[in-house]
Amino acid sequence: MQAFQNLPLRTDRLVLRPLRETDADALFAIFSDDTVMRYWSTPPWTSQEPARVMIAADLEQAHRDHLRLGIELREDGILLGTCSLFSINYACRRAEVGYGLGSFAWGHGYMQEALGALLDFGFGELDLNRIEADIDPRNGASARTLERLGFKKEGYLRERWIVGEEVSDTAIYGLLRREWRGQP
Ligand SMILES: CC(C)(COP(=O)(O)OP(=O)(O)OC[C@H]1O[C@@H](n2cnc3c(N)ncnc32)[C@H](O)[C@@H]1OP(=O)(O)O)[C@@H](O)C(=O)NCCC(=O)NCCS
Repeated sequence: MQAFQNLPLRTDRLVLRPLRETDADALFAIFSDDTVMRYWSTPPWTSQEPARVMIAADLEQAHRDHLRLGIELREDGILLGTCSLFSINYACRRAEVGYGLGSFAWGHGYMQEALGALLDFGFGELDLNRIEADIDPRNGASARTLERLGFKKEGYLRERWIVGEEVSDTAIYGLLRREWRGQP
């Protein structure tokens, strides 16, 4: 049985769908790029292995605490990136959101459009009450994406991440269901 129902999600320009084995090359191209991974929670990928592990884990669909979707351009089927709801806590009706686009796809509003559909799914289908994001405070593009969607900056945590040799802080953002598109 599939862990999540009513997928894929569709927007004007995008399809958000579970990853497939054939996505490994495209994922590797995106997540091996130093520019994309500058503020990510892991170093850039140096082999296809993490892509294969990620796809295999998603295909198992054993757990309902993590939903990752590939972001595909409807026009030509190109994989632009991924977005996720993870650490889904059904008792507290909350989850974290994560997202990344290949640098070739920045500046077109694709992530705003993709996260709009993912948040609709989270607050609607999954009945969440709160969605939060943990970002590097220096990641201006990520902060702008969240703020355009209505997320509020709620806190600042010092030295929360150590990636490679680099220690970095966290800015915590949150969005409540009642703040999202007139949800009750
Ligand atoms: C975070 C990230 C997804 C943001 O990408 P992005 O392209 O800036 O964000 P969006 O897809 O929402 O696009 C918004 C930008 O497109 C522009 N844009 C162009 N056409 C647009 C359209 N039709 N609709 C909306 N925005 C449009 C907007 O003006 C905006 O640019 P601005 O921020 O300079 O004003 C991207 O920087 C990324 O993948 N970074 C690497 C991974 C990462 O750091 N992820 C976050 C970890 S917490």
